Amino acid sequence: MDTRVKVGGLELKNPVILASGTAGYGVELSPFLDLSRVGGLVVKGLYPYERMGNPPPRVWETPCGLLNTIGLQGVGMKRFAQEYLPRLESYDTSIIVNACGEEDEEYLQVVDYLQEFDRVDAFELNLSCPNVREGGRCPAMWPDWSYRIVRGARSITKKPIWAKLTPNTSALVEVASACKEAGADAVSLVNTYLAMAVDFRTRKSRLSTLFAGLSGPAIKPLALRAVYTVASSVDVDVVGIGGITTGEDLLEFMLVGAKAVQIGSATLREPTAALRILEEAVSLLRQEGYNNFSEIIGRFEGV
Ligand SMILES: Cc1cc2nc3c(=O)[nH]c(=O)nc-3n(C[C@H](O)[C@H](O)[C@H](O)COP(=O)(O)O)c2cc1C
Repeated sequence: MDTRVKVGGLELKNPVILASGTAGYGVELSPFLDLSRVGGLVVKGLYPYERMGNPPPRVWETPCGLLNTIGLQGVGMKRFAQEYLPRLESYDTSIIVNACGEEDEEYLQVVDYLQEFDRVDAFELNLSCPNVREGGRCPAMWPDWSYRIVRGARSITKKPIWAKLTPNTSALVEVASACKEAGADAVSLVNTYLAMAVDFRTRKSRLSTLFAGLSGPAIKPLALRAVYTVASSVDVDVVGIGGITTGEDLLEFMLVGAKAVQIGSATLREPTAALRILEEAVSLLRQEGYNNFSEIIGRFEGV
């Protein structure tokens, strides 16, 4: 079967991409999973500088989900370029850099610095980073703020730009549309849902912060709706993310309009999940008589 897909300015060998923050910088996962077999890898979020992230406890499992408050720990753009990127050279997969910023300019610094490296195929702007000046709110909550950052990045690089959106906004469609207007080649959605975990006995949060991000199967129906809503109302490529753990989940996201998908939390429980999900999807497509993924993208027929 021809598993290739075109999405957000890239041609991927298949529609399965490892989601940011759940596969390290690729190198960590490589002993368990052959990176050359996935369509792409989005590396852990990078700021211009190194970050320690939040203190523990940083994760809490819920029934069907995972709460995390890692706080975007990372090695920063320079160490990534020097220590990790060379070790990714040999893999035949698309490398997508997840760019972060506490201030708008920081996103642009990451893009400006890393676009010089041939091995970086595209940027995914993590517009869901808490902003210091705005009291922790994030750019993807507002269309005009998202527009400014994507526009800035667009003026710096010719490489594909994907905007990673938060579902924690009432303006999701407007934000996706603003990103497209500003020159984004795709939008990736969703990032985690704001949530919390409380310990009745200690009367405190179970995590080191008040709020954390919920991911995993618990969010799949919510993410599916978000992807459907954006894909059916904005003329932009959509990368679907949220609780995908089976090949059938993947096909559902593509049916409602995603041109590719990302696998996040599933990898934490099962390091080879992405490959299993791909194999399951391919055999389901075959069973139903399809020849490639393009035949189902956006073919949802509603109620
Ligand atoms: C531990 C952890 C770390 C994450 N780090 C990032 C990150 O650095 N940048 C980002 O854009 N998303 C990050 N995410 C969000 C995931 O990429 C993904 O959007 C989200 O988990 C939903 O997908 P899933 O339900 O398949 O996990 C992180 C998620 C988890 C669980």
